[in-house]
Amino acid sequence: MKHLIKNIGQLATPLGNAAHCGPEQAEIKYYKDAWIAVADDGTIAAVGEGEIPAEYAQADTVTDACGKLVTPGLVDAHTHLVFGGWREHELALKLKGVAYLDILAQGGGILSTVRNTRKATEEELADKAEEALAMMLEMGTTTCEAKSGYGLTVEDELKQLRAVKRLNGTQPVELVPTFLGAHAVPEEYKEDREEYIRIVCEEMIPKVAEEGLAEFCDVFCETGVFTAEESRRILEAGKQYGLMPKIHADEINPIGGTELTAELGAVSAEHLIVATDEGIAAMKAGGTVACCLPATSFYLNASFARARDMVSAGVPVAIATDFNPGSCPNLSLQFAMNLGCYKYRLTPEEVLTAVTLNAAAAIKRAESIGSIEPGKKADLVIWKADNLDFILYRFGNNLAGTVIKEGNTVVKR
Ligand code: NIG
Ligand code: FE
Repeated sequence: MKHLIKNIGQLATPLGNAAHCGPEQAEIKYYKDAWIAVADDGTIAAVGEGEIPAEYAQADTVTDACGKLVTPGLVDAHTHLVFGGWREHELALKLKGVAYLDILAQGGGILSTVRNTRKATEEELADKAEEALAMMLEMGTTTCEAKSGYGLTVEDELKQLRAVKRLNGTQPVELVPTFLGAHAVPEEYKEDREEYIRIVCEEMIPKVAEEGLAEFCDVFCETGVFTAEESRRILEAGKQYGLMPKIHADEINPIGGTELTAELGAVSAEHLIVATDEGIAAMKAGGTVACCLPATSFYLNASFARARDMVSAGVPVAIATDFNPGSCPNLSLQFAMNLGCYKYRLTPEEVLTAVTLNAAAAIKRAESIGSIEPGKKADLVIWKADNLDFILYRFGNNLAGTVIKEGNTVVKR
């Protein structure tokens, strides 16, 4: 065996290879006095309670979990990881009451990050993102989705996605790339948005697909950004090139984005702060994962998505950070988990599923990560906590201790 993790006081994990919805979202398998054996290829060979069978007892590395809690590695299913600059100057504007979309309409917001991202080289972008990834890893995130969307030219979008590709393998966090060329209409196409949409569909998407730089296509469907009809066109174009659809919908105004999920077969819909009952029904019909981003609500001082209603409606709920320089400069999935309990009123069990198995499903990885079961990657967190409730009850601290990625100890604290 490559690695044996023993003396686990409580092991908490959802089970299965697909998203959990409704009452299943709260189904967590608990093991007491547990152990995990990791095979040479970094996958889980066996999990058990009590005495370790002789065939698993010998390992190259043995980690004593000292009676602590172990969960699957956290999966952050929605980030804007790669960007130039920051936007701390916008905080004062926000405090004065200037709205997020007004800052954007005045050429700030996303467009200010676009200017900084265009100026940066691929290497500079990758170096900056690597720092963020190191912090995420320390906080227990072992897989992270990463969107483009701050380049908004063919070359600058490719540059962002190439930075993501470069980081896959040079540091431990596994990255899942999403093309988000339709994140905003760039300033130079303000008067000709139709031409920008053409470039996204006919130039960017084919290039991204040809270079194999993304698995998903996403659109910011919002007032003053892209309409529901435009979003549909862009996501359909992505599908033709094999990019699976995701959509930023109902973040600020309900303009029909979530309602598109069923007909598009969207893998996930994100934000959903003001999602309607029709939108929730569409996600249910489409088998779409609701990816809720509570730290963004918190930072924008907005209301919180109706995650409880989504669970009741049988829609699988994931929780992610939305890490980005504008609406959520936070990369702690632990903080988003806390808000999942305090603001969405989800239980610790529902939240654990939201950041592991359901998050994995939101990025089409539920067969390989998101739970602790034989055959899945040995992505694990040994917490500075005795039980699951404890990590949701405490907040504002990093409670992740040892982090293991594919069987290798990558953080020890
Ligand atoms: O998910 N809403 C659109 N995109 C990001 C924000 C990007 C930014 O402000 O830079 C989000 O919140
Ligand atoms: Fe986002």
